Amino acid sequence: MMDRVLEPELMVDPEQVRIYSEADFEEENQGFVDRFLSSYDDLNHATVLDLGCGPGDIPIRLARGHATLHILGIDASQPMITLAEQAVKRAGFTERIRLLCQRFQDVSLADPVDAIISNSLLHHVPNPFQFWYAIKTLAKPGAPVLVMDLIRPDSREEAQDIVNQYAAEEPEQLRQDFFNSLLAAFTEDEVAAQLAELNLSRLLIDVPDDRHWIVAGRVF
Ligand SMILES: C[S@@+](CC[C@H](N)C(=O)[O-])C[C@H]1O[C@@H](n2cnc3c(N)ncnc32)[C@H](O)[C@@H]1O
Repeated sequence: MMDRVLEPELMVDPEQVRIYSEADFEEENQGFVDRFLSSYDDLNHATVLDLGCGPGDIPIRLARGHATLHILGIDASQPMITLAEQAVKRAGFTERIRLLCQRFQDVSLADPVDAIISNSLLHHVPNPFQFWYAIKTLAKPGAPVLVMDLIRPDSREEAQDIVNQYAAEEPEQLRQDFFNSLLAAFTEDEVAAQLAELNLSRLLIDVPDDRHWIVAGRVF
């Protein structure tokens, strides 16, 4: 098995951020939002925390998909939050989407949130337990959770094959970021062990395709 190769935790390079925000993640992001909205029936007037919200595409899709949700997006990259603020304004959701530029490890909220989501953040994080601990402490007991990220392949060659298969036509920077993210990601077994270690026994891991894992359930 290939060891994890860490990439920088924050995405702060302006060019990298611009290219990421212009990339087409519609299918992946809309699929994530649809799965969240259809999995839980107690989301009316809920406040959903999006950890590592990046340029805000998922918060905006959530706000479009559910009329009474409020979303708090957190990202520690100022260039990402600036783009997210612009996108939220353009989409007309400044009343329902709030954005915070902060590391999730440093966040403390006046009230625990009703639900937590996170897409493609965990592979950036050096210590994964901090991520699951944040989920445990920032959410109300019983809160719905949906987390998705990449699976680390067995070798660099396999990672390159995945990049070639799914990002053949993308800009070189995005292909390089995708490759680095695959190398920094966790395996299904590693994530399952993290959940067990933190006693998050109501969160279950599933592998929906050849390169993602999804953790869903409720946090107690
Ligand atoms: C690959 S992007 C994913 C963005 C978004 N969730 C999406 O699906 O498009 C990961 C984001 O997590 C942010 N990030 C990394 N470490 C973080 C931390 N400790 N606290 C908050 N945000 C962090 C990065 O700056 C980056 O914007």
